[in-house]
Amino acid sequence: MKKIMPIYGTRPEAIKMAPIIKALQEADDFQPVVTVTGQHREMLDQVNELFQITPDYDLNIIQPRQTLNGVLTRTVNGLDELLVKEKPDAVIVQGDTTAALGGAIAAFYAGISVIHVEAGLRSFNLFSPFPEEANRKMISQVTSLHLAPTVGSKANLTREGVDSKDIAVTGNTVIDALLDVAQQDVPFADKALEEAAASGRDIHLVTTHRRENQGSAMEGVGRALARLAERYPNTLIVLPAHRNPVVREAILPSLEGHENVIVTEPLPYGEFTRLMNLSKVVLTDSGGVQEEAPSLGKPVLVMRENTERPEAVEAGTVRLIGTDEERVVQEVSELFDDAAAYESMSNAVNPYGDGQAASRTLAAMRELFGTGSRMPDFSTGN
Ligand code: UD1
Ligand code: UDP
Repeated sequence: MKKIMPIYGTRPEAIKMAPIIKALQEADDFQPVVTVTGQHREMLDQVNELFQITPDYDLNIIQPRQTLNGVLTRTVNGLDELLVKEKPDAVIVQGDTTAALGGAIAAFYAGISVIHVEAGLRSFNLFSPFPEEANRKMISQVTSLHLAPTVGSKANLTREGVDSKDIAVTGNTVIDALLDVAQQDVPFADKALEEAAASGRDIHLVTTHRRENQGSAMEGVGRALARLAERYPNTLIVLPAHRNPVVREAILPSLEGHENVIVTEPLPYGEFTRLMNLSKVVLTDSGGVQEEAPSLGKPVLVMRENTERPEAVEAGTVRLIGTDEERVVQEVSELFDDAAAYESMSNAVNPYGDGQAASRTLAAMRELFGTGSRMPDFSTGN
């Protein structure tokens, strides 16, 4: 029996870790000790509740307007004694958050193997996304088993000198999670969303939170959305607002007073995926949404200058548009006005996974421990 400690702290990690935790719980050769840092609170708990995951440990490190250094030090401090007490055979971290970096460093210093889920994503710009590009590169330096979602992310790692035998291509666990919740037909708790769904009006779904977009860029996006709301009065703009007050202060003021703009609290994952499915266009700076929306056949306009997820851009369903106010208005308008442009971006593609990422993860872990062998790598041809 191998004791495995998944460590995570934010909403997207919780969503992407859930399929692995469920698979570990069902396996009779692994004992998961689920540890959340609590970097997020409401947004994290929402996901754990949905997937019926009760953490064994909760460091509860969140603070209002927390700083990166504060999050990192509280994470590492909180894990220090816990790792000594629990002595897991390995920790699993996911992605590129400070929770993941803290988990990886704390485990490495404690002499515990690090398994990195969603390894090898690179934007090749250290400052965008900030600090995530640096976080994931630092995590790679202390990782024993790299679980790359795509062949492209594996190639990024081998180019950096990681031995190919230490990398398994699993697909992204977000697709496992998406397929799981997409089967559940959930009602919207917010009445305005049920009315939106029933109205048949075109829905334009927006999410934003990236640190490098906070401030004037996000204010410009708010103004762009207000202009779009006026230009297309029959459509609905829906913004599930991130809990970060800095994000809300930047984007919400421009959106006040528009009948066709609906601002909600962060939606439970099941409701959010239903909303993606109902939407015509998705405008986002989120990493996870860039992976999910293409598999639902939704055109995605990404408010960033670069991406570590080039596969759906290459497939034509994702376009990088940055955050310039004029450009946001123009790109969204094109999708609403030009049926051919819309058609060309609305093909369902699945470059990120096939729903088997958690199974491949456990198989690769068994190989690491010498108790089993890997499954064939994920490829879009599978
Ligand atoms: C973090 C991750 C980012 C990820 C994003 C997902 C880092 C460096 N960044 O963003 O990679 O894409 O989460 O959403 O780890 N807050 C609440 N309740 C919550 C969640 C957040 O009140 O449930 C508040 C916090 O108090 C905090 C602010 O929102 O002050 C921002 O949270 P934080 O985790 O620091 O956000 P980011 O670093 O921007
Ligand atoms: N999401 C959600 N509710 C919302 C908005 C997003 O469940 O109201 C999900 C979304 O489907 C995706 C994940 O949260 O799986 C993305 O999280 P976020 O954008 O906060 O972080 P990122 O993926 O950019 O790291």
